[in-house]
Amino acid sequence: MITHDLGTALSLTYAWIKAAHVIFVIFWIAGLFMLPRYYVYHQEATPGSVEEKRWIERERKLRNIIITPAMIIVWVLGLSLASIIGAWGEAWLHAKLLLVLLLSGYHGYMVAYGKKLARGERPVSGKALRIMNEIPGIAAALIVILVIVKPF
Ligand code: HEM
Repeated sequence: MITHDLGTALSLTYAWIKAAHVIFVIFWIAGLFMLPRYYVYHQEATPGSVEEKRWIERERKLRNIIITPAMIIVWVLGLSLASIIGAWGEAWLHAKLLLVLLLSGYHGYMVAYGKKLARGERPVSGKALRIMNEIPGIAAALIVILVIVKPF
């Protein structure tokens, strides 16, 4: 009886952690969709203008309030889920971790790019930013297939 209750409590905790994981995944990916779009609009503003200053502030808030905290929480909860179910040896998890690492690298690149923009540099064209903006969508689709279909 006691082990049965413990089992129920554990699976309930697991379900709550998984729900929180998916909620913060949504915040993270939504923010990653928005950030390069902000940069595209930012780059259309005249350097040094009031409009440009507004974009710098919006971008800073999106990074510091939404996407970076969401990424950290997704990692912590995802690693907790993997530990609870003991999935470390599973191939789908290795593939997922590789993709999430690449997505975190993309995140880091976009955060750094925003800091360059705020300093007045504009290293990449609007068109290239729009193309790069496809990366999180593709990564999210592959990651969801890996964790739900678990093809291997
Ligand atoms: C940061 C590293 C991550 C780790 C270590 C991780 C790990 C995990 C684990 C172990 C599960 C539970 C799987 C199960 O119960 O069968 C899970 C669930 C899930 N993860 Fe992640 N995850 C990470 C990031 C992400 C990202 C970036 C996405 C989406 C883009 C994502 C989407 C999901 C979804 C949709 C589920 C629920 C699947 C289900 O219904 O069982 N995860 N994750």
